[in-house]
Formats: sequence, C-alpha cells, structure tokens
Amino acid sequence: MAPHSLIAGLFGTLLLAIPTQASILGQRVSDASEAGVPLFKSETFQLTEKSLRSLKHSQKELFGFQSDNASANADGSAKCRLLPGDKAWPSESTWSELDRALGGALIKTVPLAASCYPSWPEYDSAKCTTVGDDWEVSYMHAADPASIMWPLFEGRSCLPTSMNTSSTCTIGGYSSYAVNVSSVAQIQLAVNFARNSNIRLVVKNTGHDFNGKSTGAGALGVWTHNLKEIEYIENYNGASYKGAAVKMGAGIQAFEIYEKAEELGFTAIGGEGKTVGVAGGYVLGGGHSPMSSMYGLAADQVLALEVVLADGTFTTVTEETDPDLFWAIRGGGGGTFGVVTSVISRVYPKVGVTVSTFTFTTGTGVSADTFWEGVRAYFSYFARFADAGTYAYFWILNLGDDSYEFMMNPFFAVNHTVAEFTALIEPWVNDLEALGITVTPNSTYYDSFLPGWEAGFPLEEIGLVTMMTGSRLFPRENFDAKLNETVEAVRTTVGLGHSLLAFNMKTELQDGFPDNSANPAFRESLMHAITSTTWDSNSTTAEINSTIYDLTYNVLDKWRATCPESGAYMSESDILEPNFQQAFYGTNYARLFKLKQRYDPDGVFYAPTGVGSEYWNVESLDGLPDQNGRLCRV
Ligand SMILES: Cc1cc2nc3c(=O)[nH]c(=O)nc-3n(C[C@H](O)[C@H](O)[C@H](O)COP(=O)(O)OP(=O)(O)OC[C@H]3O[C@@H](n4cnc5c(N)ncnc54)[C@H](O)[C@@H]3O)c2cc1C
Ligand SMILES: *[C@@H]1O[C@H](CO)[C@@H](O)[C@H](O)[C@H]1NC(C)=O
Ligand SMILES: *[C@@H]1O[C@H](CO)[C@@H](O)[C@H](O)[C@H]1NC(C)=O
Ligand SMILES: *[C@@H]1O[C@H](CO)[C@@H](O)[C@H](O)[C@H]1NC(C)=O
Ligand SMILES: *[C@@H]1O[C@H](CO)[C@@H](O)[C@H](O)[C@H]1NC(C)=O
Ligand SMILES: *[C@@H]1O[C@H](CO)[C@@H](O)[C@H](O)[C@H]1NC(C)=O
Ligand SMILES: *[C@@H]1O[C@H](CO)[C@@H](O)[C@H](O)[C@H]1NC(C)=O
Ligand SMILES: *[C@@H]1O[C@H](CO)[C@@H](O)[C@H](O)[C@H]1NC(C)=O
Ligand SMILES: *[C@@H]1O[C@H](CO)[C@@H](O)[C@H](O)[C@H]1NC(C)=O
Repeated sequence: MAPHSLIAGLFGTLLLAIPTQASILGQRVSDASEAGVPLFKSETFQLTEKSLRSLKHSQKELFGFQSDNASANADGSAKCRLLPGDKAWPSESTWSELDRALGGALIKTVPLAASCYPSWPEYDSAKCTTVGDDWEVSYMHAADPASIMWPLFEGRSCLPTSMNTSSTCTIGGYSSYAVNVSSVAQIQLAVNFARNSNIRLVVKNTGHDFNGKSTGAGALGVWTHNLKEIEYIENYNGASYKGAAVKMGAGIQAFEIYEKAEELGFTAIGGEGKTVGVAGGYVLGGGHSPMSSMYGLAADQVLALEVVLADGTFTTVTEETDPDLFWAIRGGGGGTFGVVTSVISRVYPKVGVTVSTFTFTTGTGVSADTFWEGVRAYFSYFARFADAGTYAYFWILNLGDDSYEFMMNPFFAVNHTVAEFTALIEPWVNDLEALGITVTPNSTYYDSFLPGWEAGFPLEEIGLVTMMTGSRLFPRENFDAKLNETVEAVRTTVGLGHSLLAFNMKTELQDGFPDNSANPAFRESLMHAITSTTWDSNSTTAEINSTIYDLTYNVLDKWRATCPESGAYMSESDILEPNFQQAFYGTNYARLFKLKQRYDPDGVFYAPTGVGSEYWNVESLDGLPDQNGRLCRV
C-alpha cells in the first residue's frame, strides 16, 4: 500500500454533469484508495455484494459477480458469443432490466449515419448532410457511443451516402448496446451482465483504434468517453516516485490534458493526435508522445490505475498492490485485462519547444537519386536528433513520374530555442546544400507545450474506408550499419506509391522507472514508420482483399527484412500483421499470455490482435478483417 500522499487540491472537473447516481444499482463507498489519491466521485459509486443482496435470484443471475456463481447462463467455456436473434439472446425485458440497473444509461446502438437511410426511423436528410460533412472529423465519432474512426474494421455497414461506397445501412460490426458510463458501478454491471449472459464485451473510448479493437457485432459496449475528471497532484508519494502527477479519468483526451497542463504549468505525456484517449487505449498500448525522446512512452509514466476486472471486481493497481497486473496493463494493450477507470501518471515541469516545418522535392537540379540522398542524410542523423530529446513527424510522398516530396510536418524540438534547433540540424542542412537541395525551415519558439503542439499538429483526417495501414519500429542500427538497406527499403515502398508517415524519436525506459510490458522493440527504436495502401471507393471485396494482402506481405516484408528481430507498434499498425505476438509484444508475450489466463481465463475481454486473441476468431461476413460476425473460439 502506497503511503498517503499530499493532495494539492482538486482543480475542478472538465465535465461537471455527473448524473444522479441514486437510481443506479450500487452504493456510495469511501474514497480511500491504495493509490494514495482519493477515488474520483465516479469511482466511489460501486456495485457491491451489499447492493446485490436485496435482488431477486433472477436479477442476481444477470448482475452478480463471477464469485457469486449465481448465473445459470454463465458458461465460461461457451464456444461462441451470442448474436441478436439467437435463442439465448436476452429478451427486450431483460435489456430493460439492465437499463434500470444502470440508471437509464443503456443505449440501443444506432449507426451514426442512419440518418442517411430511409429504412431507419432516424432518417433525416439535414442530419445526414452534417454527418457526411463531419465524417472525417474525429470529435463526432468520439462523441458517439459506438462509432469508430476506421469503419473498414466494423464492416463499412452504414456510411454516409455522400461517400458513394455503400447503399445500405445495418448495425454491422457496431456493438448492439452501449453503456454511457458515469460510475464504476455501471462498468461492473456491464461486465457482469456480459459475462453472465455470454455476450461479447467491448470497451469503446474515442474509437481511434486502427485494428477494430473498440467495436464488435452483438457486443455490449462500455463507453468510457464521459469519464472526464482530472486532478493535479503536487506531491504523489509512490514506491519509486515522489513528485508531481496527474490523475485522469478514462475519457480524458489529449487536448484536455494539455489544456489542463497549460493552465497549471506542467507538461503531460500524451500523443500528437488531438482527440486520442490518453487514459484509454493510447496509454495501455504504450503511447508515443512529442515528449517521448525526453521521457519515454506514456505507459512508462503510469504510477497507478483503478480498474474493473473480468470478474466484476474493482481494484487499485500499483507497483505494490499488484506488481504483475501493474506490469501487464501498462503497455500490454487496451481491452485485454480490465476496464481502466482512471490513470495516475507522472508529469514534468513546463518546457519550451521550437516547432519547425519545411519541405523539399525532386525538380530543378534534384533528381530522384539526389532526393533520396537527402533522405539518407536525414536518416544518418536520427540518433543525434532523438538523443537531443526531439521528435519529428515527417512524410515522404510519391508525386508520380519518379518525383517525390519530403515534408517535415513538424520537427518538434523540445527544450530548444530556434538558435539551438538551427545548430542541431545544421549538419543535415549542410549535407542537403552540398546535394543542391535548399530547405527553408519555418521555425517558431513557444515557451510551453500546448501552443507548440497546437501549431504543429492539426486535427487529422479519420473515417476513410479506402485505405489501410501498416508499420514498423526501426532500431538504432538501421540508421548506422544498416543505413543504406533501410533507405533502400523505404525508397522501394514509396516508389510503389505508398506514402511514408514516420516519426523520428526514441522511446527508452528512463533510469529508475519500473519495467512494463510495452513492446521491447520500442526501447531500441529510432523510427516508427507507417505506410498505407488505398483502393477505389467502388473496389470489390476481392480487390480490397488483395490490396490489403499486398501491403501486409509484399510491401511490409521489405521493412521486416531490414530488422527481423524488431516489431511494430500495436496501436498504429496492420491488423493482419503476421506473427503479431512477436511483432506487437516481443519477448513479453509469454508472460502477458500467462497473466491473461490468470486475470481473464474465460476471455470476457477480447480485442483483435490483443493478448490471447489467437484463441478466438471473428467470422467476418465478407472475409475482410472486420468485426461484423460472430466471435467464436478456434
Ligand atoms: C488520428 C490519430 C492520431 C493518433 N496519434 C497517436 C499518437 O500521437 N501517439 C500514439 O501513440 N498513438 C496515436 N494514435 C493511436 C492511438 O493511440 C490508438 O488508436 C489507441 O488505440 C487510441 O485509444 P482510444 O482509447 O482513444 O481509442 P479506442 O479505439 O476507443 O480504444 C482503443 C483500445 O483500447 C481499449 N480501451 C479504451 N479505453 C479503455 C479503458 N478505459 N480500459 C480498458 N481498455 C480501454 C479499447 O477497448 C480498444 O481495445 C493515433 C490514432 C489516430 C487515429
Ligand atoms: C464458486 O465456484 C468455485 C469453483 O467452482 C468455488 O471455488 C467457489 O467456492 C464458489 N463460490 C460460491 C460463492 O459458491
Ligand atoms: C459521389 O457521387 C456524386 C454524384 O455521382 C459526386 O458528385 C460526388 O463527388 C461523389 N462523392 C465522392 C466522395 O466520391
Ligand atoms: C452520456 O452521459 C452524459 C453524462 O455523463 C450526458 O451528458 C450525455 O448526454 C450522455 N450521452 C448520451 C449519448 O446519452
Ligand atoms: C533543457 O536544456 C538545458 C540545457 O540547455 C538543461 O539544463 C535543462 O535541464 C533542460 N531542461 C529539461 C526540462 O530537460
Ligand atoms: C510559419 O509558421 C507560422 C507558425 O505556424 C505560420 O503562422 C506562418 O504562416 C508560417 N510562415 C510561412 C511563410 O509559411
Ligand atoms: C551507402 O550509400 C552511399 C551513397 O548513397 C554510398 O556512398 C556508400 O558507399 C554506401 N555504403 C555501402 C556500405 O554500400
Ligand atoms: C470504379 O470506377 C472507376 C471510375 O471511377 C472505373 O474506371 C472502374 O471500372 C470502376 N470499377 C468497378 C469495379 O466498378
Ligand atoms: C484474401 O486473400 C488471401 C490471400 O490471397 C486469401 O487467402 C483469402 O482467401 C482472401 N479472402 C477473401 C475474402 O477474398
């Protein structure tokens, strides 16, 4: 148990509206936590044995904990999860009973674009226009109980008609029901109900996941988006860390923690993506950050978590309360070991940053070979730049006819003035000059993270259904002894028309930080590179399938060949990554798998490419890797 910490004070919550919890099945408990920081108000309302005591037997069968052995329907070894229409699927009145227990927070899922289809009661052409216009804007999907940002993995079941890709609208791979969570009791009820009724369970936060991990046909969704409490802790007092920290509700998004950090004068470790769930799938899968070359992964910063486990119990996870789960849940992937309700993470002092953008292309005096020499020169300084604490996001695009464009988008030079940044990149700029390539960096200094991040990282497009991604973590030696091979592999990929979107950063575990289960490949890596493939909006399923397979094998095999021992970052990857256990988890997989058997032996939590997912299969309706079919054991 962590010694009691000094709480600097509660600086208010971002979302004040915590609905009345009186009507939810559960009870108010003490806010004491073994993390040494009081539970959030949402966490002090819990399902307890006492709250179940007065229920009828039939209700206990629905809502009881695993240890109650109450449910006649609970069959941990059932081959398949139920789908609507199955005989054993809960009746309307049973769902109503769940809704009552949840205090009215159960939502029968409707596809976001149902307003575009006359077959749905939600049909509304004005709304359809709005949904079509906003489809590539992440805020809209995050604010929906079931929508995900990569509809390919849900089965493209209901797209806005403006996209011309589909003419029907079904529930597809979206969860059937979702719980709009505002208390721990509701999460426990959802987990118990799903487990006791043999229903698939998914956790959806923002829906950013690239591998369909936050959706599933016939699922009951736990929608964590509205868990928005934040508390700054001036003096966290943990076993291996004493100092400033922040406690974030599971629904906190990157822009919210950065705004809070700006207000209170600290630096938080979150992603570059504006709306990513920093206390959800992002941190649980590792999480790289514009601050990573300075401080490591987001998962490395975590000091404590509050979690609902597969058996329905609520627990505090720290280095001392549960070292195994503490290790596994920090980096082992979202939707796997439990539902996290909050995370306490280290924060750092305010620091300035120079943000710089520039481009160069083939053209006058710059042949394709010269262009790639310029890229090679850049790669040769990767160690220098990452070791200086900087993070760079760059794109290399194929413009056709053997012409190319390099875009620094942006270079994020933490703790560098413009003069220091200019000196840092000078050797590369000189190499470029010698090759006849002129760059004109547009560099601006910001004296804290938020304005630099806002200038450097505009909101990204999501919602596309004509593309699919894959990635690789390239280790340090690839930019030294294997430099030419690495440049050649990337050139081949871009030459074939696949854009490169890559990060030069390091993501090492800092001295004295407790070890975790984040992909060991991160610790050696100097580049996280993403590429993608695309198809036409009218492509057939067979065409899409062969395009995807071409990316997974023909294209990405060339990258793997340059660093076969390395891996890929699970949260920005290819759902079909071969040998995903090695690629996403490396040497940690065996221990993670054992712990999955201990904490969730019946697979209440399933996520594609998650730990233990190889024992399950989704019988996708079209053969593509999507979540619109039945989930069964293999
Ligand atoms: C535009 C964009 C920008 C991105 N930028 C970055 C970046 O800068 N750095 C980076 O590292 N990654 C980035 N990512 C990848 C991102 O980290 C993953 O998509 C991640 O899965 C998002 O987590 P989420 O909770 O927001 O999303 P969701 O899709 O809602 O959830 C992802 C997974 O986590 C699980 N999960 C979510 N919340 C919980 C919880 N409370 N408890 C248990 N499981 C949970 C879900 O079940 C699912 O398995 C980006 C992705 C996109 C699309
Ligand atoms: C539930 O079942 C397990 C294993 O069968 C048993 O060990 C446990 O005592 C039972 N619990 C209750 C409350 O009956
Ligand atoms: C969809 O089709 C309409 C009419 O054929 C066309 O005007 C529009 O540009 C198309 N939209 C997309 C996104 O392809
Ligand atoms: C979800 O609950 C929050 C309160 O926690 C409420 O503000 C919001 O409107 C609800 N959303 C939906 C879609 O029901
Ligand atoms: C920033 O760099 C200076 C040296 O230029 C160093 O003294 C300082 O500790 C650095 N700040 C951080 C937050 O790392
Ligand atoms: C340089 O960057 C700043 C900050 O992002 C921007 O406002 C300005 O328009 C840019 N200037 C040029 C010439 O691109
Ligand atoms: C690597 O490529 C550079 C030019 O691109 C060349 O000068 C050098 O000889 C090559 N090195 C090896 C080991 O092939
Ligand atoms: C898809 O549309 C393009 C024109 O945009 C056309 O050339 C092609 O034949 C169409 N493919 C199919 C499978 O309909
Ligand atoms: C997709 O392509 C792979 C590899 O060619 C093949 O094995 C698989 O059967 C295809 N699936 C579909 C649905 O076409």
